[in-house]
Amino acid sequence: MRQAGRYLPEYRALKEQHGFLKMVKTPELAAEVTLQPIRRFGFDAAILFSDILVIPEAMGQPYDFRDGGGISMAYALESASQIGALETGHVRERLDYSAQALRLIRSYVGNDTALLGFAGSPWTLATYMVEGGSSDDFSRAKALYFEAPALFNQLMEKLSTAVADYLLLQIESGADAVQIFDSWGAACPGSHYYDMSLRWIARIIGRLPPDTPVIVFAKGMTQHRDALARTGAQVLGIDWAVDMPAYCEGLPGDIAVQGNIDPVLMNGSPDIVHRETHALLHAMDGRNGFIVNLGHGIHPGARIECVESLVETVRNSAKPHPPTGR
Ligand code: CP3
Repeated sequence: MRQAGRYLPEYRALKEQHGFLKMVKTPELAAEVTLQPIRRFGFDAAILFSDILVIPEAMGQPYDFRDGGGISMAYALESASQIGALETGHVRERLDYSAQALRLIRSYVGNDTALLGFAGSPWTLATYMVEGGSSDDFSRAKALYFEAPALFNQLMEKLSTAVADYLLLQIESGADAVQIFDSWGAACPGSHYYDMSLRWIARIIGRLPPDTPVIVFAKGMTQHRDALARTGAQVLGIDWAVDMPAYCEGLPGDIAVQGNIDPVLMNGSPDIVHRETHALLHAMDGRNGFIVNLGHGIHPGARIECVESLVETVRNSAKPHPPTGR
């Protein structure tokens, strides 16, 4: 989930000076923004500061932010010729700034902090590309799937290639694990979710080295748990609306879970964060493979004291390792 962002004064200062996209595309700045929350809170893992929309940009469809919030693509994908014109051959060279940023981050954190790379799922990226930006109902992206399936598949093939190439680049450049965000899976009719999104995620995972853990975060997709587990993901990211212990019942023991504190709690009181984190840790006690995280990205209104309270609660609850030897 997002660790960096406007809730940190040091992020706001850097963004004021350079702007979001320049920070993403300048390795030294991307490394600096990645490290800001690590320095402050000492998290066990750092997530590369970047954005899922660098993939459409590397394929020839740039983006920016709307004044009132949300994403605006330079144009909406509307025709077969526009989909045909999307390029997949330049991903590594155009996104080399992420590779450089990862190497810089590794040189700063050494091997004590895990380094996470990430990308958007083909379906989630396609929503922005076909709608021309953020959308309320995803009607154009869904129309492409239902009314022009061959074109939809062509777009998904291209996106799957580009995303897998990008994740491979991140892994080669030092990412210990990668996360795939399917933020808008919940827009898909349930009976089509596999066809619209999961099969493309599975295809990407199939191209990644089997020893690199893949985390799949699919917001609002609890009922597709088993299908998500079958994509090849080793970790499932869980949003805040889910009851974690119930979710884990019957989940294969070799699949870890990550989540799921409600990000909104970070805007409130440190005591409540402590109580809720403690309750989650208690409820998950005994499960192998549980990564404490927020259940979605951190909000600009998050309070530093609340993040500190979360980290302290987790650290204080850590059990000593069992004795080794005889
Ligand atoms: O902690 C980190 O630095 C991780 C980096 C990260 C960002 N975006 C940086 C970012 C990650 C993992 C993302 C993922 C991302 N980006 C997703 C998938 C996860 C999710 O939230 O569901 C999506 C859909 C995007 C696209 C995107 N980028 C949106 C919708 C927005 C918000 C636009 C708005 O209305 O403000 C962004 C901006 C963005 N990406 C910010 C950050 C830190 C906030 C920028 C700012 O406020 O300065």
